[in-house]
Amino acid sequence: MSSTLFRATSSRAVQTRSLLLASAVAVPAARARVPPHFLNSTRAYSTEPVKSSGSSTALWWGVGLLGASAGYYFYSSSTPAKPVVALKKEEKKPLDYNEVYKAIADILDEDSDYDDGSYGPILIRLAWHASGTYDKTDGTGGSNGATMRFDPEGAHGANAGLAHARDVLEKIKKRFPDISYSDLWTLAGVVAVQEAGGPTVPWRAGRVDKLSSTDCPPDGRLPDAAQGQGM
Ligand code: HEM
Repeated sequence: MSSTLFRATSSRAVQTRSLLLASAVAVPAARARVPPHFLNSTRAYSTEPVKSSGSSTALWWGVGLLGASAGYYFYSSSTPAKPVVALKKEEKKPLDYNEVYKAIADILDEDSDYDDGSYGPILIRLAWHASGTYDKTDGTGGSNGATMRFDPEGAHGANAGLAHARDVLEKIKKRFPDISYSDLWTLAGVVAVQEAGGPTVPWRAGRVDKLSSTDCPPDGRLPDAAQGQGM
């Protein structure tokens, strides 16, 4: 194995050397064709005056190095490329929202001691409180974002008690981590209405969770029970 490597290295060195030689021979011929005033010109920015040594050694070294790099380029581009091993992507099953629906429906009545024996009402309230903060004038708030996960919105007076609904849905989120909280909360509201014998509620997925409290809507967007029915 090491001898193959050695052979490869030495043939590469021979190629590079012969290219250096070839460029060294070719340059004086080219130099002969260049008008003499160009050979002495210094068209480059310099902070110091260029020394007029008259020696062209540096130029020769430069040309030699250029030839060597060109040789290496042609050598390496003619070497066959190693085959690329494509990493097999794990095929991911798209989320089946009907499965999520069924999972929510299954837990609705799992705790007969809770309230009147169903999570349905509190899930409807969660969906409504997440959605009811929407302001159509500037597009802020609403179900898209699930900002009630964060304070201050989680602690708004109107949302008292809803932590329980959010906790109940946490186990569904663990089972289906690909669903956003925004989709999960609204879907839970749909499940609660429909499983209680209510109307079919059109629903679609696609809400994207916000990542911090900066998107929480201000307090007071939901109607306040304390204000009564007004006039
Ligand atoms: C007009 C505005 C509304 C006001 C002022 C209001 C107020 C309230 C209040 C004070 C409660 C009791 C919360 C508690 O347990 O301490 C409540 C519960 C509830 N609200 Fe509303 N609500 C309003 C609109 C709605 C709407 C539009 C829905 C349905 C989409 C809704 C669904 C519910 C449900 C299902 C509960 C019972 C939750 C449970 O039993 O855990 N509310 N609401």
